[in-house]
Amino acid sequence: MPTIQVFEGNIIHCNKIFSIEVIENGFIAVQDGKIKEVGKISDLDNFKAKHSDTVIKETRLNEWQILIPGFIDTHIHASQYFNVGLGLNKPLLQWLDEHTFPLEKQFNDTKFAKKAYNAVVKQTLSHGTTTASYYATLHTDSTLLLADVAIEHGQRALIGKVNMTNNSPVDYIETPERTIEDTKQFIKEMANKKNSLVQPIITPRFAISLTIDDMKELGKLAKEHNLRIQTHLCESIGEIAEVTKLFKKDYTQVYMETALLTEKSIMAHVVHLSQAELDILVKQKSSVAHCPSSNFNLRSGICDVRRLITAGVNVGLGSDISGGSNIGIVDEMRYAMIASTALSFQKDNYEPLNYTEVFYLATLGGAKALVLDDVAGNFEIGKEFDALIIDLKAENATAEFYTKYTPLEMLQKFIYVGDDRNITSVFVGGKKVK
Ligand code: GUN
Ligand code: FE
Repeated sequence: MPTIQVFEGNIIHCNKIFSIEVIENGFIAVQDGKIKEVGKISDLDNFKAKHSDTVIKETRLNEWQILIPGFIDTHIHASQYFNVGLGLNKPLLQWLDEHTFPLEKQFNDTKFAKKAYNAVVKQTLSHGTTTASYYATLHTDSTLLLADVAIEHGQRALIGKVNMTNNSPVDYIETPERTIEDTKQFIKEMANKKNSLVQPIITPRFAISLTIDDMKELGKLAKEHNLRIQTHLCESIGEIAEVTKLFKKDYTQVYMETALLTEKSIMAHVVHLSQAELDILVKQKSSVAHCPSSNFNLRSGICDVRRLITAGVNVGLGSDISGGSNIGIVDEMRYAMIASTALSFQKDNYEPLNYTEVFYLATLGGAKALVLDDVAGNFEIGKEFDALIIDLKAENATAEFYTKYTPLEMLQKFIYVGDDRNITSVFVGGKKVK
């Protein structure tokens, strides 16, 4: 007999851009991993009567719990997890040379890769990341392994084999032929997995690591296979100076001319962006992964998210492990508010992002940025049930209670003082993964 799972309680999600919807005493019915119905508890009997030929399994949340969509990490280097918290007193390019590349090199060893990827997928899931857009390393075998690990643990993921052919360490670089051949092989083997949880994403590291010709080839590959693209753009002043020196043009123009800016492209950081460059992003309908903790750690600068959103750019949040130091998106929401508040001190009449706005970035905003909003990001009927049960009374000393709170107050408390201990259940495609 078919089964429908029904979750009952206080539900919060974003129904459209920057708009939060609270369904007090609501329910969500889930069948085959997808959302079948959303309504008020008062309509539940009606729903049950209509599905009397179906087994209904009910999960009732208590008054200290809320049901929210899973978080979306739009930019995370799975391969850098072991470096989290290290080397963060150095600027980007030095940090890459001294900390990042030496670690990433080691992923030629698939045993090492398996250990690292198991850890990062488990940790991100436990912190509520139901979808992640991952950078792996240059190594095809290890990168395919990351896809297997995501499938095994039940996480939705975009998986990127990184491309680097220029200005890179002698033992962490590919030839132009190799980078394209390996990427083609990677795309083919990802398709062979025949699992809708994981998809490949074209991942040129950043302009500095590639030639114009190699970027063009990757742009072509993305177009040929209709794939998403992820890379870094305008992250730090030193990096931008290097790009300008190498290519004699704007950073954004480099990606524009190599066909890397598409409707399915997600650019990480985008801290220092001229108006002309913003106009290009808008015209190309490319998205931005805002990585506030990384931008503070590596002293890259502050991304003006309000400016991007006002211009019409889709923005999501990224942990940018290990430039970022937070494995979970809850912390990135806080950093995003702090970054925005810091900007407001410097600008007149600047409204900093509030907790509902960063909640949007962490959920529906991220789904839109990754062009996954047909499957995830909120509780729209027909989407996959990617959800978190947040329990304010879980073992977390910061959540003390003396009175009853509204669902929105509970969300606010969770965003400001909660952590993974408050995330008591995680569902991806209706399957409980924590
Ligand atoms: N730019 C190029 N590679 C990287 C990376 O690994 N992390 C960050 N934060 N920026 C980059
Ligand atoms: Fe990054």
